[in-house]
Amino acid sequence: MLYSAVINVMVKAARRAGRSLKRDLGEIEHLQVSMKGPANFVSLADKRAEEMLYQDLAKARPGYGFIGEEGGNREGADKSHTWIVDPLDGTTNFLHGIPQFAISIGLQREGTIIAGVIYNPANDDLYIAERGKGAFLNDQRLRVAGRRKLEECVVACGLPHIGRGDHELSGREMAAIQNKVAGLRRFGAASLDLAFVAAGRLDGYWERNLQPWDIAAGQVLVREAGGIISGIEGSDDPLTTGHVICGNEFVHAELVKILKPLGK
Ligand code: IPD
Ligand code: CA
Ligand code: CA
Repeated sequence: MLYSAVINVMVKAARRAGRSLKRDLGEIEHLQVSMKGPANFVSLADKRAEEMLYQDLAKARPGYGFIGEEGGNREGADKSHTWIVDPLDGTTNFLHGIPQFAISIGLQREGTIIAGVIYNPANDDLYIAERGKGAFLNDQRLRVAGRRKLEECVVACGLPHIGRGDHELSGREMAAIQNKVAGLRRFGAASLDLAFVAAGRLDGYWERNLQPWDIAAGQVLVREAGGIISGIEGSDDPLTTGHVICGNEFVHAELVKILKPLGK
């Protein structure tokens, strides 16, 4: 498969940082983590991965801005391009040795996400999308699932952690959806939830209060796979609101119809 130069840069960076995360996962699985405890170890793994990504991306495209979860905002001379990066999405899974986590790299040009790479180093799944050029998983073209009956759909959600978000609202949302679908899931890595929708593994996904680095790469994947992604309102921008609803046209509309009134 031939990808553009910028995708090759993103893939190379994701694979290098991925090797580092995979080594660190091995340490966790074999309980070799430092005396300071696993949470501290994971936070170091996370920071190390982000630094590698920053170095590789900045070297290949000097001047692009960089927004990373761990290092914050690094401005560049080129004001029209920004990398939006989560070096480790699914931290809690990683900490527990659950192989559902990923590196997520989005590239924004003039406010639009034009490319996304999501890489799970635990199983080597590599998702690639470029605006106007399609979405791929390990070089296979992706298409969102085509189911039109919600009762046949498997849908994923996010759940707010201790001290975060609105737990009562999230309970009401789950109760409303659970009752209408074939299966409700919570996997714990937003970037992969989006990638799973693009791959047709999940029919739909929603979550509130995400950050741009959770959404950027996945958003272009879902769109390039023919899916619809918005905020909870149905046509708002997930990247600015932090809320996400996605699926095929039908599933997206059904989820909006159920979820939108609940937040009012
Ligand atoms: C988290 C994961 C999780 C989502 C959280 C995110 P992190 O990212 O994507 O699935 O529910 O809201 O913060 O902290 O593991 O990078
Ligand atoms: Ca994240
Ligand atoms: Ca993270």
